[in-house]
Amino acid sequence: MERIFNLLMNVNQNDGAIQDALDTLSSAFQYAYGESRFAVWHKDWDFVLKIPRYGYASIDFCQREVDNYREAFAYGVERICLPIEHVHTTPTGIRIYKQLRYDFCTSDALDSRINYRQYLRKRNVPRDEKITAVVMGACHQGYRLNAYWVARMVQLYGKKFAKSFEQWTRDCRINDLHDLNTGWLDNKPILLDYAGFFH
Ligand SMILES: Nc1ncnc2c1ncn2[C@@H]1O[C@H](COP(=O)(O)OP(=O)(O)OP(=O)(O)O)[C@@H](O)[C@H]1O
Ligand SMILES: [Mg+2]
Repeated sequence: MERIFNLLMNVNQNDGAIQDALDTLSSAFQYAYGESRFAVWHKDWDFVLKIPRYGYASIDFCQREVDNYREAFAYGVERICLPIEHVHTTPTGIRIYKQLRYDFCTSDALDSRINYRQYLRKRNVPRDEKITAVVMGACHQGYRLNAYWVARMVQLYGKKFAKSFEQWTRDCRINDLHDLNTGWLDNKPILLDYAGFFH
C-alpha cells in the first residue's frame, strides 16, 4: 500500500495525472477504471485500492460506497458487499480507499474459460424463481442485474434477504448494478461497485 501512497504523494486531483502515475507501476500491478473510480492492485494482494476520479462528478463515489456499506448493516445485507474503508489521504487531498478483491466479475463469469454457467447449473440455481424477477424488476434500474447472480443470492440467503436488498438499493440509489459491478468471491455473489452513479 505504501508504494501507492508514495506514488501519489505529490500528484494533483486530476484524472490524467493520476493515470500517468499509475502507468509507471511495474507489471506486478494492474489498474482499471470506470466512470467514477480507479482501482489498482498488486498480483499478490487480496484487496484493491480505489481512488476517486475527478473528471465526471464532484461527488466522491468511494465515500458514497463507504456510506452505503454502513447502511447495508441496517438492512442486514452487508454480506453481499465487498467491504470498503478509507485508508489514506495524500498531502494533495487524494483520498485512497481499500476494498476486498473479487475472484471475477459477472461479465467474466460468462467467459467460457471460467465456465461459470456450468458451475451454476450443477448447483441447481433456481433461475426462474418468481422472486428473481421481483428483485430484478423492482430494484431501481434493477433490470440491469444478472439473473444468475440474483438467483444465487436468493438460493444462498433467501427471499427476505432479497427483499431487504431491493429496499437498500432503492433507498441508497444504487442504480448501476451491471455485470461489471457485480461479481463473485468464494463462489458467492458480491457487489464490488455499489456507489450508484448519478451527477
Ligand atoms: N473490489 C474489486 N476487486 C477487483 N477489481 C475491482 C474491484 N473494484 C473495482 N475493480 C475494478 O475496477 C473497475 C472500476 O471500479 P468500479 O466499478 O468500482 O468503478 P466505477 O468508476 O464506479 O465504475 P462504473 O463505470 O460502473 O461507475 C471495475 O470494473 C473492476 O475492473
Ligand atoms: Mg463500476
